[in-house]
Amino acid sequence: MIYYKTKSEIELMRQSCLLVSETLAATAALLKPGITTLSLDKFIGEYIRERGGTPSFLNYRGYPFNSCISVNDVVVHGFPNGDELKKGDIVSIDVGVYKNGFHGDHAYTFAIGDPGPDIANLIKITKESLYKGIEKAVAGNRVGDISNAIQEHTEKKYGYGVVRELVGHGLGKSLHEDPQVPNYGRRGTGAKMKEGLILAIEPMINLGKREVYTEDDGWTVRTADHQPSVHFEHDVCVQKNRADILSDYSIIEKAERANSFLFSAS
Ligand code: MF3
Ligand code: CO
Repeated sequence: MIYYKTKSEIELMRQSCLLVSETLAATAALLKPGITTLSLDKFIGEYIRERGGTPSFLNYRGYPFNSCISVNDVVVHGFPNGDELKKGDIVSIDVGVYKNGFHGDHAYTFAIGDPGPDIANLIKITKESLYKGIEKAVAGNRVGDISNAIQEHTEKKYGYGVVRELVGHGLGKSLHEDPQVPNYGRRGTGAKMKEGLILAIEPMINLGKREVYTEDDGWTVRTADHQPSVHFEHDVCVQKNRADILSDYSIIEKAERANSFLFSAS
């Protein structure tokens, strides 16, 4: 069932979503070749708790870390580990915060140095597709309008692989609420959206084929062809004429630009 949020609930959710953005911005400042993803995860957990939140992902269905850190051909749900990031890697950092009874959940893909033109373009287009989807997240539209906009901009226009097995979702008192928000679909299909619906929209786009598999750890999702994959996620509240974006990329992008180890694809 779909839960529509009141004005005061939306403001509480904005705080949780912004704490995710601040966490991602602070983490962006630490990214450089040689840093391990496990050290980033530890930082993320401490940053969230110092600010009165708890990491939403930790222990969610048994998930064993504070964050998901997905490098190169890992699509999502990558386990932080002792591997060092290196020049040319791309890394999706996905963070959830539970605070004041509500979850924030969003993600950003960073490039550690220049990943080359093909991957830089994949990053740019995946982020663009997220905003194309967000444009459709207005009252009166259907969820399929969001899905279709993302698929058109990535698969139709550039031939990228749109992952089918994982989808965006409603967000609120639970990390995953109805409706599901696929990154592929037909215009005019799916649930009709009303003001106060909060969605996590999260395109997962592969440079190569769309097929993925899950590793034996039960979580790590990888591309079948081992080509890289990019993931961006925003939390948005459906409103009348335009969606209200509750998460904030501007502070993350500022930290990205300020870190000379990072390549800004957009
Ligand atoms: N952004 C992801 C999602 O919405 C992160 C979930 S990781 C999990 O599904 F560990 F919490 F499952
Ligand atoms: Co999500």
